[in-house]
Amino acid sequence: MASHCQLIGCKPAFAAARRPRARLIQLSFAPCSYTPDPNMPSVSHESGSDIVHAPHPPLTEYYDSEEDRRDWVGDQFNKTAADYDRIEKILGLGTGSIYRKKMLELAGLQHGMKVLDVGMGTGLVARQAALLVGDPANITGVDPSPGMIGSAKLPAGVRVIEGRAESIPLPDGGYDFLSMGYALRHVANMADAFGEFHRMLNPGGKVCIMEITPAQGKLGNALLKGYCKYLVPALAKLVAKDKDTAQLWRYYWDTIEACAEPTKVMSTLESAGFVNVRRNVDLGIFTTYLADKAA
Ligand SMILES: C[S@@+](CC[C@H](N)C(=O)[O-])C[C@H]1O[C@@H](n2cnc3c(N)ncnc32)[C@H](O)[C@@H]1O
Repeated sequence: MASHCQLIGCKPAFAAARRPRARLIQLSFAPCSYTPDPNMPSVSHESGSDIVHAPHPPLTEYYDSEEDRRDWVGDQFNKTAADYDRIEKILGLGTGSIYRKKMLELAGLQHGMKVLDVGMGTGLVARQAALLVGDPANITGVDPSPGMIGSAKLPAGVRVIEGRAESIPLPDGGYDFLSMGYALRHVANMADAFGEFHRMLNPGGKVCIMEITPAQGKLGNALLKGYCKYLVPALAKLVAKDKDTAQLWRYYWDTIEACAEPTKVMSTLESAGFVNVRRNVDLGIFTTYLADKAA
């Protein structure tokens, strides 16, 4: 993998327990958050730079409008959670956990750091983070889907909170590292989410956001589309427990294709106050956005 790896600067991206033994905590105090405007266009221009709000325009093949997106996506994740890890293994050809760990290391995750994993899902990133920091109690996972949280396999000690990237229900600061694995396309408002990421980090804290981005060449993109939009959903139909699983994986591809360009995602990170914003690309499609909060 390393030979395919590029770093792009912004200016010109334990064994798991059988059942979750993590602590689920729902906090009721109001976060220092923003009020997302559901009618906001996917990209708006502020001070001459591109700031991304909604990650992509509404995908009306699946739901009617931006207002309906959150409920539709939430419903899909809840219903299909039990299938997630199995299908992810097919999509990533079994390399997903190793790759997530490698990206956390690349972003500078070290022993003893306190980590907030946003869009934790079934815990694929959080598990690797726990291995690297050495103590599962240093990891907090946040996700809005009770279904995904309920299917998470986490080492004892990981703290889990139901919440959204755009309004994280935690007080300011306290984390050295913030990770997000393949959830950025699902947030309601990227600029708000990045504002929250900045708020959650201690000075000098690091961000690591993993995503899939379209391939540059036409042929590469056609192959990726065939794999993600048709082959993986077809396999999902054969092995999934829930009938909606295949549709959700087809939807993933449509969000990848429709998502705001990486340069705009990076501008939005800068606009939220992050410095040293850069992007790592593997195999032309696996993007990791890296950024720091100033010390
Ligand atoms: C494709 S899964 C990724 C799970 C995991 N991070 C991984 O690396 O496999 C996307 C997750 O994002 C969550 N999600 C959806 N909307 C979100 C939001 N607004 N804020 C945070 N997470 C969100 C979903 O519930 C789901 O668990």
